[in-house]
Amino acid sequence: MRFNPNFLDEIRARLPVSQVVGRKVALKKAGREYKGLSPFKTEKTPSFTVNDLKGFYHCFASGEHGDIFTFVMKTEGLEFPEAVERLAAEAGVPMPKQPERNAAQEDQRDRLYRLLEASAAFFEDSLRSGSGAEARRYLEKRGLACETIQSFRLGFAPNSRTALSAHLKAKGFSLNDMVASGMLIGGEDIPEPYDRFRNRVMFPILDLKGRVIAFGGRTLEKDVPAKYLNSPETPLFHKGHTLFNAARARSSAHDKGRVIVVEGYMDVVALAEAGFGETVAPLGTALTEDQLKLLWRFAEEPILCFDGDSAGRKAADRAVEVALPWLKPGLSVAFAFLPEGIDPDDLIRQQGVAAMSEVLAKTRPLVEALWDRELRAGATGTPEQRAALEARLLALAAAIQDATVRSHYQRELRDRLYQLGRSRSSRRLSGGSDGAYAATSFQGSYARPTMAQSWKVRDRVRLDGPDRRFTKKNPYPELVNASPELAGHLQSIPPREALMLKTLMNHPWLIDEHSEAIGALEFAAQPLSALRDEILAVHARQNSLDSATLGTQLSKSGVAKVVDLVARTITHISDRFAEPDASATDVEAAWNHILALHQRQDALERALRAAEEAWYRDCTEEAWTHLLDIKRQIAREASMDQMDAEIDQPADDAQIEKRAS
Ligand code: UTP
Ligand code: MN
Repeated sequence: MRFNPNFLDEIRARLPVSQVVGRKVALKKAGREYKGLSPFKTEKTPSFTVNDLKGFYHCFASGEHGDIFTFVMKTEGLEFPEAVERLAAEAGVPMPKQPERNAAQEDQRDRLYRLLEASAAFFEDSLRSGSGAEARRYLEKRGLACETIQSFRLGFAPNSRTALSAHLKAKGFSLNDMVASGMLIGGEDIPEPYDRFRNRVMFPILDLKGRVIAFGGRTLEKDVPAKYLNSPETPLFHKGHTLFNAARARSSAHDKGRVIVVEGYMDVVALAEAGFGETVAPLGTALTEDQLKLLWRFAEEPILCFDGDSAGRKAADRAVEVALPWLKPGLSVAFAFLPEGIDPDDLIRQQGVAAMSEVLAKTRPLVEALWDRELRAGATGTPEQRAALEARLLALAAAIQDATVRSHYQRELRDRLYQLGRSRSSRRLSGGSDGAYAATSFQGSYARPTMAQSWKVRDRVRLDGPDRRFTKKNPYPELVNASPELAGHLQSIPPREALMLKTLMNHPWLIDEHSEAIGALEFAAQPLSALRDEILAVHARQNSLDSATLGTQLSKSGVAKVVDLVARTITHISDRFAEPDASATDVEAAWNHILALHQRQDALERALRAAEEAWYRDCTEEAWTHLLDIKRQIAREASMDQMDAEIDQPADDAQIEKRAS
């Protein structure tokens, strides 16, 4: 909905920023402004300022800046229209009428809200009354505290076909509205509408504003077809858009940066009682995409809890498919699996809160759930089976709409496939059995380049040619001997990337000038990016860093293994600049050259990947022409490098071959 700027200004005029902010931040007057500790960043000295005259706040620590609306959105996790509504009420400015619904519908909605509220109150009263004794005993047996029952507004629907309708009639509600609200079952072939919920414990379902819009009811009897019964779809209630406990969970989720999704009403209630207020549940159906989008307004990575049994796995599999198309940078879901046959309510009652915390601490990312799901779907013993797996995985990844997330998925899935193929062949060589193979998951000490990338590495060496501008006379490359166990790793590290890092390690002064470009480098091998990050981190901590200090710091960090690999990469005579004794001018010139080369090729590779994707997806003439065009550019680039190489050193083809293999 779009708001009239005058209307927003009216609210701003009535609510000073200091008043809105003052509820969350202790402010002190400082001249014309107020100062306080940033609500966006932990800090000891105040760098958060509020200026009522200008109508904004500014945080020097985090760079956050905005007005009363953004403040409420940021600190309470509200959407803009919700923030407007909240502050309009506070300021006493009436909300503009929504034009799209007509007055009659609006009136009916108002009546239904009141009717459902009256029903909730009626059920609460019944639970406290004589007829609610059995229900009270039931809830007590399930271990719920009085406060929990009250705060969730649990109630009891008496075992009668008329109790609620009689009550609502006395309050002046029409039979029509009672049926429309879902509280009564009626229709053309039902002469006398009757109460839908009978002899059930009632769970009111609230919208985000805390208004009752529907109910779920749990039977107290053993042999009833439906253990839980939910309100039908009504003008106020759309099952697939709603989550049980969303209103209360939202603020909790916002504070904790986490939201938990479980299957059942009772699980939500039990978790909330145990201190996990940030818990919601879908309403008797599998999670829908609308519910997922709602969850992303609460936290970036909702945790979906499933039973560890096969039904739970199936439900998780479905959730994977629902989530994929909507992933965005930073937005995903994580999976938590409970012990088999146990729901969160059982777990807390039987094993305590700590057991639940443990389950929540061991979440699995979506990509792993996806990988597991496809591994379970078929054997992977033969190349054909692995090819089928690859096709399935890539088809799933293609469903991701966001191009950045999609390409990261494609990359990671290819990594895992590559790893799978490799460990298979090493198993075969070492005489290992094929069984239990599907269970192996990706746990390499670092990610290997993808299959496509590892081919590319070879091509690239062949195509680039070694950079001959910095060679000394000796045409034979100097080879550092790698141990046999390292040899496999070395092969899979793209040589140019290793060379660049080795240069940085030996000449850290380069980082002073080039830190931005270094930070932006794309590496095909993840461990190399990790090493780069660590190098930059050490550099950031220390002025005029020398290579010995850098080496010591790196060897103490988590990337020590990679450092070792990089330090031992083969340095060709042509790559002398990477060595410690190279002259600064040589190093600088070589660095600029290799950096430009790397960036150019990286850009081309990315363009190629995008063009291939576009071709697979659209199959249009245009996509094909574009793809060809990029391939031509790559070929041209390669032949230029080749020419360079040949001009420099015409007789060295054998060496190029040797390096490429
Ligand atoms: P469960 O059958 O797992 O029940 O249904 P539960 O949550 O553990 O309930 P208790 O502990 O026996 O009381 C999980 C959820 O599935 C929906 C409900 O939302 C329920 O909370 N459901 C289940 C239905 O909608 N209808 C049913 O008949 C059963
Ligand atoms: Mn249960």
